[in-house]
Amino acid sequence: MKTYCVTGGAGFIGSNVCKSLLAKGHRVINMDNFSGFYDYKAKISNVLYSIDFTGRFPFVSKGGDLELLSSLSKSERYHLYVVDIRNLSAVNAIFQSEKIDAVIHLAAMPGVRPSIENPLLYEGVNIKGTLNILEAMRKFNVRKWIFASSSSVYGNQQHSTFSESELNSRPISPYAATKKACEDMGYSYYNLHGIHGMMMRFFTVYGPRQRPDLAIRKFIKQVDLELEIPVYGDGQTARDYTYIDDTVTGVISAIEYVEGHEVYEIVNIGTGTATSLQTMIRTIEAETGKIAKLQQAPPQAGDVDFTKANIEKASLLLNYSPRVRFSDGISNQILWQRGVAP
Ligand SMILES: NC(=O)c1ccc[n+]([C@@H]2O[C@H](COP(=O)([O-])OP(=O)(O)OC[C@H]3O[C@@H](n4cnc5c(N)ncnc54)[C@H](O)[C@@H]3O)[C@@H](O)[C@H]2O)c1
Repeated sequence: MKTYCVTGGAGFIGSNVCKSLLAKGHRVINMDNFSGFYDYKAKISNVLYSIDFTGRFPFVSKGGDLELLSSLSKSERYHLYVVDIRNLSAVNAIFQSEKIDAVIHLAAMPGVRPSIENPLLYEGVNIKGTLNILEAMRKFNVRKWIFASSSSVYGNQQHSTFSESELNSRPISPYAATKKACEDMGYSYYNLHGIHGMMMRFFTVYGPRQRPDLAIRKFIKQVDLELEIPVYGDGQTARDYTYIDDTVTGVISAIEYVEGHEVYEIVNIGTGTATSLQTMIRTIEAETGKIAKLQQAPPQAGDVDFTKANIEKASLLLNYSPRVRFSDGISNQILWQRGVAP
């Protein structure tokens, strides 16, 4: 049994990672501040899902709810700390009191468009917060970590697939720039302090518990409610969509790989297939059995037009091979959004 610190463990990807680590018999320390990026109640549900809590949760007020959740989430194998990673002394205190083997650092302000409105918030949480985690790791001799980077660091590339060897990535939003900065900070700490890590460039993750700001989540909701969907641009944009279970498998393989090697690596976690916006909408229509009402809207600043991962490196180092077909993943997400699946 290992002890993993998962930052952002109440979020979409984090709660699924925590659940998987617990199922493998590990101990999990979850550091999350239940940021206001989306409803804290969704994050409470995520934590309850991670720890297989099936009772009724009262949902009264944020303070009281988080207190109750913290008491429910204090077992030998799972400990939730409601903490802001920008607070270095609070982070240090946790590293001092827990014997952490490795860190899976997922906490961040996500989302491209809001980072244009509020870049200083993104700089504070994503860059300073990450530096605090690295500093605590250095101080308390934790030498292995995974960092949640993003396909957005590539910017708008002309190439058909995005490879980690690409040196000229040009982030086109503050969010993407913070992720690139953290990758570079990860290299500095590897070089200076022997902190080994893998910077995982996730490609648009979807599936049950997906964040409410992401397109697939919004589209499913709008189609189900038979409301109009704003379609930005000409519908020709395309993305590499990765199902949550495949992402989690990649994360678990990555931390195991880093634990066995003295490395600094950047690795794409995608599928190697770009799905056009039109195909995404048609798939949602087919799986919901409803017709989408589309409303044309201008392209959004900061959004990249196209993403497609080269996953050869992930396959070589991690034996990573995404398994879930897009239509199956969409079908699972629809069941979850309709409240039919947990
Ligand atoms: N979902 C995707 O498609 C995707 C793609 C690329 C990269 N990523 C990255 O993966 C990670 C997880 O993304 P997600 O979709 O699960 O997002 P999420 O918002 O669901 O999860 C992030 C978690 O971090 C927590 N957090 C935010 N600020 C914090 C702070 N100051 N202190 C402590 N905790 C804080 C939030 O409360 C939240 O629970 C993020 O770093 C994100 O940038 C996600």
